[in-house]
Amino acid sequence: MSSLFARRLVYSVRSDIASVVRPSLISRRASHALSVHRDTPENNPSIPFEFTAENLERAKAIIAKYPSQYKKGACMPLLDLGQRQLGFTSISVMNYVAKLLDMPPMRVYEVATFYTMYNRTPMGKYHLQVCTTTPCQLCNSDAIITAVQDHLNLKPGQTTPDKLFTLSEVECLGACVNAPMIAINDDFYEDLTADGVVKILKDIQAGKTVKPGPESGRDTCEPHSGQKTLLSKEPWSGKDVTRSDL
Ligand code: FES
Repeated sequence: MSSLFARRLVYSVRSDIASVVRPSLISRRASHALSVHRDTPENNPSIPFEFTAENLERAKAIIAKYPSQYKKGACMPLLDLGQRQLGFTSISVMNYVAKLLDMPPMRVYEVATFYTMYNRTPMGKYHLQVCTTTPCQLCNSDAIITAVQDHLNLKPGQTTPDKLFTLSEVECLGACVNAPMIAINDDFYEDLTADGVVKILKDIQAGKTVKPGPESGRDTCEPHSGQKTLLSKEPWSGKDVTRSDL
């Protein structure tokens, strides 16, 4: 393939993509925000970090799953543990994990900057991840993210002044059959409506516990018109052969 033809092909593919992706729905996160660390008062290497005694025990149990020469395989779960303890994956968390696993810090930075699940800046108590990928978008995720933004007066990437919520616009979270959906920390809220998501936020603001799962009331991801298969009961217990995850 000639280089001119190759370049034309690239431009043509780019313009095709540009014509189908609506710019207003793209999260604008400059690449330096994803890959570059800049010291800040709340995130710099002089801030000490170490696992609590409880988390250190957890870390030892995780490391023990790997052969001693491959303990760096524990890098991701340990970063996750650090993030859960501190609230975000600070440079000190990364350095601590590197030390614990005898890894060059750069190797840990590479992992933490590659996976977007590691939040490298301080987060609100509740991380709202609104999925806007195609199945959710077709089920009106635009209305969901607009409702969240309007209710909290927040844009993706921002945290509320009371440090309660951080909003992110994310790609598919694997619950497309229950679209549109959002994740709040580790929980999924599905089959959402704009009013429904605002009610969830109001309940959280009021300090109430909000039950995760489909807002529509269906059980997990069964058809909207009700369960169609696996309708029999366990012969030995008389219970349903399927289980509710909630
Ligand atoms: Fe939203 Fe898959 S597209 S969860």
